[in-house]
Amino acid sequence: MSPPRPDTDQALDPLHAEKVLSDTDTRVAVAGHPIHAMLVAFPISLTMCTLGADLFYWWTGDIFWTRVALWAIGAAFLIGLLAGLSGTVELLLVPGIRTRPPSWTHFVIAVALLSMLGANFGYRLSGYEDAVLPFGILLSVLCAGFTGLTGWHGGKLVFDYRLGAGGSKS
Ligand code: HEM
Repeated sequence: MSPPRPDTDQALDPLHAEKVLSDTDTRVAVAGHPIHAMLVAFPISLTMCTLGADLFYWWTGDIFWTRVALWAIGAAFLIGLLAGLSGTVELLLVPGIRTRPPSWTHFVIAVALLSMLGANFGYRLSGYEDAVLPFGILLSVLCAGFTGLTGWHGGKLVFDYRLGAGGSKS
C-alpha cells in the first residue's frame, strides 16, 4: 500500500477543503489588527506624493520638490518592502489565503509594483535633480497606476473574499 499523501488526500476530502477555505483569519497582527493593512497605507500615499512632487517640480522648476520626491519614493519603497514581507508571511501561513488564486494574483502584482518603486528610487540616487524630467516623472506615473491597481486588488481580497479579517463567506 502506498503511504498517505497529506496534501492530495486532504484536497480531495470536501470536509477538509471546507475547513481550509474558511481558515482566513490574520496571523500577522497586533491585537487582531492585520499589520499588512496598517503598513500598505504608507507606500500607497507616499507613491502618490512622489507623483505630486514631480508635478510640482515640472510646474515650478523649484528643486526643493526633487528632494521631496526622492525621500517620498525612498520611504515608499522601503515601507513597501516591509508591507510585502508581512503580506507574504500572511499568504504562506494562512491556509484559506494560500489556497485562493486571487491571493497569488495580488502577490504577483505587488512584487511588480515593488520592483517599479525600487527602480524609481534607484534611478534618482545618481542625481535626483536631473532625474525627474522626463524619466522620473514617467516612472512615477507608472508607479501611481500600479499602486492603484495593487491597492484595489488588495481591497478585493479583504472586502470580497474576507481574507485576513475575522471570517470567510466563500
Ligand atoms: C508583496 C507581497 C504582498 C502580499 C503577499 C500581499 C498579500 C495580501 C493579503 C494576503 C491581503 C489580505 C489581508 C491580509 O491578510 O492582511 C492583502 C491586502 C491588501 N494589500 Fe497586499 N500583499 C502584498 C503587497 C502589497 C503591496 C505592496 C500593497 C500596496 C502598496 C498592497 C496593498 C494591499 C491592500 C490595500 C490590501 C487591503 C487591506 C485592507 O483594506 O484591509 N499589498 N495583501
